[in-house]
Amino acid sequence: MRLGVDFGTTRTIVAGADRGNYPVVSFEDPRGDAREFVPSLIALEDGRPVFGFRAEEAARAGAPHLRSVKRILSDPRVTAAATVRLGGRDLRVLDLVAGLLREVAGCLRTSSSVAEDLTDAPLDVVVGIPAHAHSAQRLLTLEACRAAGFTVRAMVNEPSAAGFEYTHRHAGTVNSRRGRVLVFDLGGGTFDASLVAVHGTAHEVLGSCGDNHLGGDDFDEVLARCALRAAGISSAELGESGWAGLLDEARTAKESLSSQSRLIAIEVAGRAVTVPVGEFYEDAAPLVRSALATMEPLTVPDRDGSPALPDDVAGLYVVGGGSELPIVSRLLRSRFGRRVHRSPHAAASTAIGLAIAADPDAGYTLSERLSRGLGVFRESESGRRVSFDPLLEPDLRVSASDTVAVTRTYRAAHNIGWFRFVEYASADDEGVPRGDVMPRGRIAMPFDPLLQEGSRRGEVDLAGQEVVRTEYGPLVEERYSVDPNGIVEVQIRDCDTGFTLRQSLAAD
Ligand SMILES: Nc1ncnc2c1ncn2[C@@H]1O[C@H](COP(=O)(O)OP(=O)(O)OP(=O)(O)O)[C@@H](O)[C@H]1O
Ligand SMILES: [Mg+2]
Repeated sequence: MRLGVDFGTTRTIVAGADRGNYPVVSFEDPRGDAREFVPSLIALEDGRPVFGFRAEEAARAGAPHLRSVKRILSDPRVTAAATVRLGGRDLRVLDLVAGLLREVAGCLRTSSSVAEDLTDAPLDVVVGIPAHAHSAQRLLTLEACRAAGFTVRAMVNEPSAAGFEYTHRHAGTVNSRRGRVLVFDLGGGTFDASLVAVHGTAHEVLGSCGDNHLGGDDFDEVLARCALRAAGISSAELGESGWAGLLDEARTAKESLSSQSRLIAIEVAGRAVTVPVGEFYEDAAPLVRSALATMEPLTVPDRDGSPALPDDVAGLYVVGGGSELPIVSRLLRSRFGRRVHRSPHAAASTAIGLAIAADPDAGYTLSERLSRGLGVFRESESGRRVSFDPLLEPDLRVSASDTVAVTRTYRAAHNIGWFRFVEYASADDEGVPRGDVMPRGRIAMPFDPLLQEGSRRGEVDLAGQEVVRTEYGPLVEERYSVDPNGIVEVQIRDCDTGFTLRQSLAAD
């Protein structure tokens, strides 16, 4: 059985592909209860990390724990060697993510609704990734999945997967006049929106926007602050563990809200307080407005200039556990009207879409956009000048099944070429990256055959060499390829000598 794995900030949800059906996998927790997710939680028990349900139990018993490891992964500077401090120990983030996914794999085989189908079978999966993930996050997620024993068939952007789930469920609403779906995915820690064009089972992502630091966790924090205000104490008085406990309380209280709720009862430092729902919603509304502002590029202005859905959009598909909060769809409906559809499985929509993507018989195809560009700063005039070359533009079309490649060929004019790669979200009129720009590695390429020989033997430190102009440099070919997972690899080759450098451009 093929599976879709949605490794979320707060929950990891799995759906299976079973003869045209895509059931959400249920897991049995240590108390014998059925749960439709494994908590993405890590705790330290007797100095050793434990994951998932065990971590939930340990955290309840007061063990130090880490809630949102995926948020750490979304930091563009994260590398395979990055560590996080937990209970006085420094642990490798990559090991923690792999440990968490290994726990999910173990639960799938031993205590899940699909355990019987998986006993000796390989764990063939399609895994989700935030549409706005940097390449470091893509690479580390993939590595962690492999280390956990999954065979990853593909990595699909989370909102694109939710788009699959929409058309699977609402095929009737998509027609030639309204052939697009706008997916609004508010998760635990991230917000993503994607505009997807649908032609039958062929999907094409036309554009996407996102905020890696906006999700249900932020609503918990708003509610926790309302509760502090009601109790008349500050978060400093509460201390670190008291604040963490209050956030847990706030999450539980938030998740039990219905559209009829008027008051929220919550405990602050052992004292019961009540927060009027209206007050919480008032403080939380800016978070929803911030999501709306983030997705504005995918909307069109209406007569009074406020964002509206383009005419050819069949629906705004609201998914992600964070959008279960009644205020979210209420505000979306007041802005966009009746074309707002909330998924009946808001939290599981992505996992179901991933399972559809994993099912070869479903025949769903996807063409994506890169969403972050990749460019290179090259040094010229013996290092005195730097020029920028936007190699892969942010909205470049990439395919989920093929590798896309770009090449540059020229004669080298120096003995050494220095390349500094960056990932960027947008560029100005001259094509120079602006705003959110992240380093993605530095490569020194020797063009002088003697330096090539020396660096092949590991005897030359190129950083210590002076860069000088040369008369007859070799013919050089740079090749940049984006694999179906959105990971870019560069290969720089001296076509005269064959000397080649290769590097995955994931992290500095
Ligand atoms: N009934 C509910 N009402 C309000 N919020 C809810 C409800 N159920 C879940 N949530 C919230 O949804 C969030 C988790 O959503 P989801 O499972 O989609 O996120 P995730 O996939 O873990 O995170 P991400 O997609 O950001 O990586 C949490 O903040 C949780 O509190
Ligand atoms: Mg999610």
